[in-house]
Amino acid sequence: MHQVEKHIEFFKETLGVSYVLTDANDLQTFGRDWTTLFDACPTAVLLPANTDEVSRLLKYCHEHSLPVVPSGGRTGLAGGAVASQGEYVLSLSRMNKILSINTKAMYISVEAGVTTQMVQEEAARNGVFFALDLAAKGSSQIGGNISTNAGGLKLIRYGGMREQVLGLEVVLADGRVLDLNTPLRKNNTGYDLKHLFIGAEGTLGVITRATLKLMPQPRFFQSAILGVASVPHIMEIMSLSGQHGLQISAYEFFTDAAHKIVCQMHPQKRPLFTEAYPYYVLLEIENHQEDRSAFESFLGEVLEKGFAKDAVIAMSSREFKELWGYRELITESLASYGHVYKNDISVAVGELPAFLDDISPIMQEEGKNDITFILFGHVGDGNIHINYIAPKKGGSYKDFVIKAKAAEQRIFKVLQSYRGSVSAEHGIGLIKTADLKYSRTAEEIAIMQSIRRIFDPKDILNPGKIFKL
Ligand code: MLT
Ligand code: ZN
Repeated sequence: MHQVEKHIEFFKETLGVSYVLTDANDLQTFGRDWTTLFDACPTAVLLPANTDEVSRLLKYCHEHSLPVVPSGGRTGLAGGAVASQGEYVLSLSRMNKILSINTKAMYISVEAGVTTQMVQEEAARNGVFFALDLAAKGSSQIGGNISTNAGGLKLIRYGGMREQVLGLEVVLADGRVLDLNTPLRKNNTGYDLKHLFIGAEGTLGVITRATLKLMPQPRFFQSAILGVASVPHIMEIMSLSGQHGLQISAYEFFTDAAHKIVCQMHPQKRPLFTEAYPYYVLLEIENHQEDRSAFESFLGEVLEKGFAKDAVIAMSSREFKELWGYRELITESLASYGHVYKNDISVAVGELPAFLDDISPIMQEEGKNDITFILFGHVGDGNIHINYIAPKKGGSYKDFVIKAKAAEQRIFKVLQSYRGSVSAEHGIGLIKTADLKYSRTAEEIAIMQSIRRIFDPKDILNPGKIFKL
């Protein structure tokens, strides 16, 4: 029997025939994430039902040196879940149970394949709150959120995924199960190993279970979108909110170009204001009591001082959703508009205005090269998504990416001088392996390689992702 057939035979015996997929359509679906740059080419898709099955699969793959791509909701934007080299995709999708929820000790324990939204909804049903929030929440899975240390829309208030994780169960490359899955809030007994797996993009182990923090349910939200003339004004508005004692739970921005594309792709979305402004800020305030006056007096001062030119305030939960739509529809609108190449950078929050000034001449020059730059993102965290776009009829996607990457290199050199990050939230995956050097020193990369060798000496887990061994 051919080697591959032997392996498939073993997987079918271990999981049951229905849970080893080799059909061309399944390979295409499970072999890629939301990046479209790589061809999907896995050998098979494995769908274990529990930790024990994951352990048996990995033990076998380790013994036979078979490459494995751990896979969640595949909503990633860096190619971290792409299988393009004949790997075995290990999908956690069947491991989608909520295991327990404790609203006194405020934690929820789940399998890795539950979606972010399922956790949010289970928390809400129990009168508490799970703080990670992403536009992709309906599909993204908790294991993937942890493996990429997802940031999302509420990081400014609650931190990213790392801050939500209390405990983890992880299956190591050789099949050993590491049980770090306790709800302890404090534990200073040596190295806190769980943190190594958070943001490791599936290179150090496969996360099978997690215990996550819950919060009291915030009772009242207020939100508004402001039309703003300049980036320094965006920063002024943020610091003024602090002076008014407001608890910001989201501070997002997008440019008029992003706004126009959302309105173009979603005709039901009318332009926010009769006049166009260079930037729009979406801010959300969270409160445990209803208090409209503080928010209104803050907005009054923002307009009076000229930090914003106009404002639209959500007066009902329907309007609240409507406002958020302008921000949440950007990614999807850009994808239906044409070719998109994505950046996901960050600098220290206070340095954003200077950084954007410094890269503005680059964007102007590269604009002559038929690239349109669309900026949006988590401005309150210093995390900007720079999307390079062009209409599809202008040429092939691969040619466009070559052009976009050349422009990106110029931006990354400026970013390096700010000690910024080439990936603030999407991860390095396959897309940014060559760019890791802009944000990490050679010493740091060498230490990361040594750690990876300890956990996965045969380099079977997500090989080639983040960096090569
Ligand atoms: C977002 O902030 O909407 C996500 O990171 C997705 C994206 O960058 O397109
Ligand atoms: Zn983002």
